[in-house]
Amino acid sequence: MATTFDICTIDDIPANRARGFTIELNDETFDFFIVRKDDSIYGYINSCPHTGVNLEWMPDKFLDLSGSVIQCSTHGAQFRIENGFCIYGPCLGRYLERVELEVRDNNIKLIL
Ligand code: FES
Repeated sequence: MATTFDICTIDDIPANRARGFTIELNDETFDFFIVRKDDSIYGYINSCPHTGVNLEWMPDKFLDLSGSVIQCSTHGAQFRIENGFCIYGPCLGRYLERVELEVRDNNIKLIL
C-alpha cells in the first residue's frame, strides 16, 4: 500500500529552480529533489546514475547556470528536467530515478 508524505507547497520552490528534501523512512534516509519548471514539477531520487553520489554542489543547486537542465556537480552529467534522461556526460543514455509526486490544493505530496 502506498504511503503519502506532505513535502511542501508549490510556492516553496521558486519558478524554474529546484529544491532538495530528505525524509527518514524505516531508519533509512531518502534523498530526493523536486524541480519546478514553468507550471510543472518533476521529482527524482538524489543519486547520479554514474556513481550514486548526490547531484547538487550546494543545497538546492541541482540545475546548470541557465536552469535548463539538471546537472551533476561531480563530473558534469546533464539530464533533461522533464524525464531525467542523461544527454551529456559519463552516464549518457541513462535516467535519474523518478519519484512519484502528487499536487493537490497547491501542496506537493510524495507517494512511496
Ligand atoms: S557522479 Fe555524476 S557525473 Fe559522475
